[in-house]
Amino acid sequence: MVIVIVIVIYIHACDGRKWAKWAKSLFFREKMLNEGVVMQMTDIRDKIHKRQFLFPTIIAKLPSLTTKNMNLLKQFFRISDNGATEKRMKETSMDEMEIFASSMLGPKVVLRKTLNVKGSGKNVMVGRVSRIQGGNVTESVTCHQEVFPVMLYFCHYIPMVRVYNVEILTLQRIKINQAVDVCHIDTSSWSRSHPAFLELGSAPGEIEVCHWIFQNDISWTADAN
Ligand SMILES: *[C@@H]1O[C@H](CO)[C@@H](O)[C@H](O)[C@H]1NC(C)=O
Repeated sequence: MVIVIVIVIYIHACDGRKWAKWAKSLFFREKMLNEGVVMQMTDIRDKIHKRQFLFPTIIAKLPSLTTKNMNLLKQFFRISDNGATEKRMKETSMDEMEIFASSMLGPKVVLRKTLNVKGSGKNVMVGRVSRIQGGNVTESVTCHQEVFPVMLYFCHYIPMVRVYNVEILTLQRIKINQAVDVCHIDTSSWSRSHPAFLELGSAPGEIEVCHWIFQNDISWTADAN
């Protein structure tokens, strides 16, 4: 059963709040992504317990998933309200996630995840950096797990990003992880109080903002080939 819906939710305020609770060094500038740079890596471990994808029997009990009855849906999952609007999709399986990513990015999409959680909360060295799509500004769909009684991903479309695949080394230059990083090039629509600006000391639209793809989060881009 496919429950594919596009709902309008407030994303930046929401994500900001989620992240603010979690750790330091959440955000950084793109210039850090150069071989040999030492930086603190935020704790990218998923703090949410393992959940399962929705069972069809539960899906059948969900209120119908449309923008109109968003309030009902939020009550169902006890989600609180928050700020700015963006198109997102609630996902129940990898297949549906891929369908959504394709609908936004084109027929062929590539899924990227950070390999493991090593380096979390530590000082690490940036190893080889591969620039996805040659470092061109591109678009992506990022899917985060959300705090639901079951495993659900919220996916949102982000128009202007650069995506990197980054080797994470210890300070002794031993490779421990391969992490995906997304840099948001256009931050002009972000809230002034977004934790990225507090951390980096800047304001909406003035800087790009980069962050790691956390454990269990997923980044999709179009397949360049
Ligand atoms: C990057 O953008 C340039 C200019 O639009 C284009 O010619 C090139 O093919 C792109 N590179 C990749 C790897 O997509």
